[in-house]
Amino acid sequence: MCGIVGYIGKRQAAPILLDGLDKLEYRGYDSAGLAVFDGTRINIVKTAGRLKALEELTHDGQTVPGTSGIGHTRWATHGQPTDINAHPHFNKDETIAVVHNGIIENYRKIKEKLVRKGYEFRSETDTEVLAHLTDYYYKGNPLEAITKVMHRVEGSYALGILFSDHPDTLYAVRKDSPLVVGQNDEGCFIASDVPAILKYTRDVYFIENQEVVMLKEDRLTFYNVDEEEIPKESTHIDWDVEAVQKGGYEHFMMKEMHEQPKAVRETYEKHLCGDRIVLDELKLSEEEIRDLKRIHIVACGTAYHAGVAAKYIIERMARLRVEVDMASEFRYRNPIIEKGELVIVISQSGETADTLQALRNSREKGATVLAIVNVVGSSIAREADSVMYTWAGPEIAVASTKAYSAQLIALYLIAMYFSDIRGTIDGKEYQQLLRDLKKLPEQIEMLLSNKERIQRFANRYLAAKSIFFIGRGLDYSLSMEGSLKLKEISYLHSEAYAAGELKHGPISLIEEGTLVMAALTQEDLYAKTVSNIVEVKSRGAFVLALTNAGHPDIEKVADYVIYIPLTNRYFTNSLAIIPLHLFAYYVSVGKGNDVDKPRNLAKSVTVE
Ligand code: AGP
Repeated sequence: MCGIVGYIGKRQAAPILLDGLDKLEYRGYDSAGLAVFDGTRINIVKTAGRLKALEELTHDGQTVPGTSGIGHTRWATHGQPTDINAHPHFNKDETIAVVHNGIIENYRKIKEKLVRKGYEFRSETDTEVLAHLTDYYYKGNPLEAITKVMHRVEGSYALGILFSDHPDTLYAVRKDSPLVVGQNDEGCFIASDVPAILKYTRDVYFIENQEVVMLKEDRLTFYNVDEEEIPKESTHIDWDVEAVQKGGYEHFMMKEMHEQPKAVRETYEKHLCGDRIVLDELKLSEEEIRDLKRIHIVACGTAYHAGVAAKYIIERMARLRVEVDMASEFRYRNPIIEKGELVIVISQSGETADTLQALRNSREKGATVLAIVNVVGSSIAREADSVMYTWAGPEIAVASTKAYSAQLIALYLIAMYFSDIRGTIDGKEYQQLLRDLKKLPEQIEMLLSNKERIQRFANRYLAAKSIFFIGRGLDYSLSMEGSLKLKEISYLHSEAYAAGELKHGPISLIEEGTLVMAALTQEDLYAKTVSNIVEVKSRGAFVLALTNAGHPDIEKVADYVIYIPLTNRYFTNSLAIIPLHLFAYYVSVGKGNDVDKPRNLAKSVTVE
């Protein structure tokens, strides 16, 4: 979603803003702009389209001189992606400039009031009300005007604000949209995410809800919504700038797929002590784990698919009931949650608006919330009762791959830990599962080394009309993820079906040559899915089967076969997903799509 950056200091602002926006490109956007104070007035340059257009318009920032400024990449919500709707937005006298990430829910009401007061609006955005409302409240004290705006608006926002009559100061505010701040010898910085300022400082401040930060060339001051100064501790970022660069790969997605063995290994190693799983962050006693009646898992997109896999695993292994919800559904269905129940929210970014709200709703109902999160210090990590980090490192490609792999590992660990305590697996099985877990990185490596075979296969399907993914049990959860990844980056229509559901409707969609990707990694369901393959084949489908090594018989039924190395019944998604993600990647590349930044999508979905 939208990205914001800001700088005030000794250096020229525009090149720093453009560089920061470049680092936030992964978030997804359709227009970009910046506002810089030139010593006399604030100048805004903005344009629809990619950042490159803004760089060309400003000659890489040279035509917008000045040492304080704000920049923005916009992902359109209110109004088309046009030059006018792009941020920053001015007040009427062009003395206040605002960039915004989030949604102002009561903007219509505020706009009507401002129009009655004589304010004229240039754009269709909700953001413009913020510029005019700040102007309305502004009587010479920026902090006072900003906090009045905060009391008046509803919704989510991270803002960067410049006042031309306070040229030595830059303001930033946050509620429910991410914002980080940093400082070095040459100035102070704001950004929606750490990569935008990492090359200037490794010590960042995560701004909390309803906090304001005042940035001067040489200092940061933090305030609450009552204009009282508040203390704030910095967080040291210990991952490298290289982690957010492509490192020789053509796309971040391919780089991140190759980082999966490491992401998997680091995630389990952080939770192993000898041959025992240690989950200190859980904050549940053994007795509480034994007494659990039910777990809720809530997430969006790919993280939700990891949750669906966990339902199959935890229910079977720990004999514990699991309900899985998409966060956007969960938050509005007033779910029945008993006091003391465990809710697990899963999120790579830790900023997904629906997941964050689901977390808050669950806590209000008295649940204990455990967050499985990749981004350290993110909103979800900060607001949950406890956090289990996935150690995948920064994920830049919009299509999530290594985060999914790491989420699966975190969920396997929870399943094994609970099962051990609840006595549903014995010591021998526990140790075998641990041995299998430790084999996964190497097995993933092996699958990745066969990527050319998937590429050749994918190239045949660049013009496909529709592709189906089928499977039963865990293979159904895998199919959902394979299908999402394909639609997301290849723009091909695809659906995932529980194989047993085909006869209840979807089989009518199968015609001569339709590609069906059938997953058969669950031995007890193997014969059932073979029957479904026979059914679609007899209606003309071309079937790719994804199954465990040691099933050569499948070659008599399917047209093309990919084998995954042997593991136990619970960990198959970690292996079988590799060819499916590779398939989506190669179809996308073959079609000439922007693999890392697919159309209409954002990496971090900070609005609902
Ligand atoms: C994954 O490929 C998608 N881009 C998307 O479904 C993503 O998983 C979803 O938006 C949830 O994001 P989160 O993990 O950051 O909460």
